[in-house]
Amino acid sequence: MQEPIAPITWHNGQVEMIDQTRLPGELVFIRPRTVAEMWSAIKKLQVRGAPAIGIAAALGLYLAIKDSRARDRAGFEVELQQAAGYLASARPTAVNLTWALKRVQQAVAAAPASDIASLKEVVLKEALAIRAEDEAMCRAIGENGATLLQDAAAILTHCNAGTLATARYGTALAPVYYLASRGKVLKVFADETRPLLQGARLTAWELHQAGIPVTLITDSMAASVMARGWVQAVVVGADRIAANGDVANKIGTYGVAILAKEHGLPFYVAAPASTFDLSLASGAGIPIEERDAAEVTHFGLRPTAPEGIPVFNPAFDVTPHRYVTAIITEKGIIHPPYSENIARVLGA
Ligand code: MRU
Repeated sequence: MQEPIAPITWHNGQVEMIDQTRLPGELVFIRPRTVAEMWSAIKKLQVRGAPAIGIAAALGLYLAIKDSRARDRAGFEVELQQAAGYLASARPTAVNLTWALKRVQQAVAAAPASDIASLKEVVLKEALAIRAEDEAMCRAIGENGATLLQDAAAILTHCNAGTLATARYGTALAPVYYLASRGKVLKVFADETRPLLQGARLTAWELHQAGIPVTLITDSMAASVMARGWVQAVVVGADRIAANGDVANKIGTYGVAILAKEHGLPFYVAAPASTFDLSLASGAGIPIEERDAAEVTHFGLRPTAPEGIPVFNPAFDVTPHRYVTAIITEKGIIHPPYSENIARVLGA
């Protein structure tokens, strides 16, 4: 297996990120230099996937304050707070974004040094720690998830929760990479994931690059693939998981979960602790991003619907916890009843 690529790195004093809107046609790197450029990269989905946007936002905070002329610590923290509010406004659903921003702010608040140069270093150090820890968490998710998938020949996934969506290795795809590195090759059926085709453009691309067998299907073919007995499990990522185990993930995930239940297949969600939002009792409180109508009415630049037609374009949906067989985290596998077990495993 080819080692999965790391989509966000800190290289020669610059943030370097794969422009995911250019895949699969071109592997192009962008180097945002300002907080506004990072905000725009997150908004436009040049960097996307819950853990990856958390890392990007944390590095975006550094871009915001690296040239700060704040006179004192209080002024510096105000600048940081303003930049965090701005970055958080880029996308509302993935909680990893606000989690990472808060974590950097807390690191600054707790720093013993109060000179501005040292505080800038704290911001960068914390952002890079978030990146490094995410890679380690994804590895652990891979190892934990592999125990559930050892006997499977193939899985189905929706959207992209692979290396491109994280620091490296992914969440849903981490067990696939982990098993492949130990000589067990799992085949993956990738839903294309309308309207922005993260499955076709990104999941299919990264698995193909890594040498993992992947078959691309349109979203409407998932039931057929399950009915034929071609997959033994579904594994997806998450953008936010409520305290009761309800899961927000890419639009269409809910339908896939219902299909899995009908076909007697386990439906696994793979996510790090940073994706849980225990302040929300259920998925009803998760904000769902709605995106531009043009994503639905056009295929690229080509119109595929009558001009001016009303469109509903939510980027995510919420899968009720009763459809979730287990949640794979870096701290272990969480089984129902989720209200008790999420708190127990994450608290541990
Ligand atoms: O709109 P996107 O591409 O950011 O949506 C991504 C997803 O829904 C992923 O499944 C989720 O963020 C988990 S990534 C490990």
